[in-house]
Amino acid sequence: MNANWITQSAIYRSVFRHDLEDKPRNRALAVTSNVFLHVHPVQVKASALNIRFTFCMGGLAFLMFVIEVVTGVLLMFYYRPVPEYAYTDMKLIEHTVHYGMFLRNMHRWAAHAMVILVMLHMLRVFLTGSYKPPRQFNWVVGVMLLTVTLLLSFTGYLLPWDQIAFWAITVGSKMAAATPFLGNEGPFHEIFRINEFNDMQYLLLGDNKVWNNALLRFYVLHCVLLPLVCTLFMVIHFWRIRKDGGISRPL
Ligand code: HEM
Repeated sequence: MNANWITQSAIYRSVFRHDLEDKPRNRALAVTSNVFLHVHPVQVKASALNIRFTFCMGGLAFLMFVIEVVTGVLLMFYYRPVPEYAYTDMKLIEHTVHYGMFLRNMHRWAAHAMVILVMLHMLRVFLTGSYKPPRQFNWVVGVMLLTVTLLLSFTGYLLPWDQIAFWAITVGSKMAAATPFLGNEGPFHEIFRINEFNDMQYLLLGDNKVWNNALLRFYVLHCVLLPLVCTLFMVIHFWRIRKDGGISRPL
């Protein structure tokens, strides 16, 4: 039997639409017909590969996000977002789950790294003038990504339910109470008859203090809503880079 019968079969040909012979057209087809590979363009300018232009900080921020998703899903297997269990679950993860300490620390350190890398990436984009037309829209998408990254960090901070988490979020959520018009301590709150039971802080915490409703809200925001929003903006961000002709070039 012909040794290539697998690669010639109808099933194989329905998945891989190109043959394996190494020709420029085949290489391009291999990239465009693969959902993961086609995220990258078939051809890139040599300047786009110059590591000293980007230091790959956007790519590294994305890598941190992927690490957060993988380790975060594993942490969710052990963690219950209620005041009775949250702190002890976190301690059990550290001391009884196999590689639990490693897992928690991976999640924590990659989170810090993501915040730092996003900021450095933004600084690089600014210093290389890459926010200028035609990339001004992608800068705005980037600002949304920065906001979501900081919100992910803020909501995750409460989840260990230890003293530093509890009081940091108590202080942080006070800022929502000071929102102009919509915070019960903010300027002009009288206009809309805002009080401590219908203001921005109440919306964020589900209460007027940090307790079980706040823990559940932060958990849902941290594990479901914000990662989905972040993914959506990243897809738009990467798609825009392609539409703007790849990354900008050094002058
Ligand atoms: C989660 C956050 C973010 C991720 C994962 C991300 C990812 C990326 C990646 C992979 C690139 C390709 C070039 C590179 O690696 O430097 C890029 C380019 C770009 N990013 Fe981001 N980014 C993020 C946040 C931001 C922020 C906060 C801004 C600015 C406010 C921004 C603005 C831009 C712009 C304008 C480009 C095009 C740069 C060029 O053409 O040289 N991004 N981003």
